[in-house]
Amino acid sequence: MPQIKDTNILAIESSCDDTGASVMVNGKIVSNVVAGQDVHEAYGGVVPELASRAHQSQIVPVVDKALKDAGVAKRDLSAIAFTQGPGLMGSLMVGASFAKSLSYGLDIPLIAVNHLDAHVMAPFIEHKDMKFPFLSLLVSGGHTQILKTVDPQTTEVLGESKDDAAGEAFDKTAKMLGLPYPGGPVLDKLAQTGNPNAFKFPDSRVGALDFSFSGLKTAVLYFIRDRVKEEPDFVEQHLNEICASIQHTIVSYLMRKLTAAVNETGINRVAITGGVSANSGLRKAVAAKNDWEVYIPSLEYCTDNAAMIAQAAYFKFEAKDFADLSAVPYARAMR
Ligand code: KG4
Ligand code: ZN
Repeated sequence: MPQIKDTNILAIESSCDDTGASVMVNGKIVSNVVAGQDVHEAYGGVVPELASRAHQSQIVPVVDKALKDAGVAKRDLSAIAFTQGPGLMGSLMVGASFAKSLSYGLDIPLIAVNHLDAHVMAPFIEHKDMKFPFLSLLVSGGHTQILKTVDPQTTEVLGESKDDAAGEAFDKTAKMLGLPYPGGPVLDKLAQTGNPNAFKFPDSRVGALDFSFSGLKTAVLYFIRDRVKEEPDFVEQHLNEICASIQHTIVSYLMRKLTAAVNETGINRVAITGGVSANSGLRKAVAAKNDWEVYIPSLEYCTDNAAMIAQAAYFKFEAKDFADLSAVPYARAMR
């Protein structure tokens, strides 16, 4: 009897400040390793040069661990996938060069994956039977988009932020309140015991399904400045209320746009992904939509990770959509 060979895909993610490697065997994720980079904390944001250096030192141990956790040897790999873009150029280069060398050395196919497509495909890791078409709200420190996916090869951007990403809106307002970076999760925690209607902040008016967060940022800045003039310890005294009000503003804004996208497209199958999908307010708001079929991947697949790169690569592997050694990273979205 002829032996049927397993399909073993090794995927690498290095678009920003997380070095990730994951192994997928016959469509199932068997390992997922992510190494973060503490080096940026002191700067309150990602420093590109430091990010690419950290990827360089982390990529070999991260890949080794992913293969070891999976119990898969390099010689048994069927393909190597990597994040081609968008992202930080220096960071992308590390993953791309590594993947290309491995593909060349092992003489196996190379698969170039778009980072945003990968976020969109993340729900399939845990829900193999999820159907097309579906909408995704992708909200993280780097992205805020509403996307429509009709098949594994076709994703369309319906709307996106014209300035900051939703995660940045959380992080930057949290910073104004003196919270540590990244402020999103801290603000969320404090918000849980505050009155979300204590203070009103405006959200920006931009076209149909697009977003803007600069108005909120300015409003919070002036609000704090004015209140502190009258009451020097205003922030300390009202921290939970301020956090709850900011969170309520951001979540209602995201939900209003997402609901408009559902109504406009007639598609009520909705996935939420990206680091901000960890937000308790957003999760509650989405769960309350009884007439939607909602998918929220586990947090490890929502934040930047290589398992989602492997999932997107699997669809490309099945379609024999391979790259070659001339594939170069791109920093900006290529749509
Ligand atoms: O996807 P992600 O881990 O990485 C990048 O974007 O690179 O997203 C990180 C973002 C940060 O802005 C962080 O503050 C935000 O997600 N975030 C949250 C929460 N958890 C993470 N924002 C609000 N509430 C949370 N619980
Ligand atoms: Zn991402």
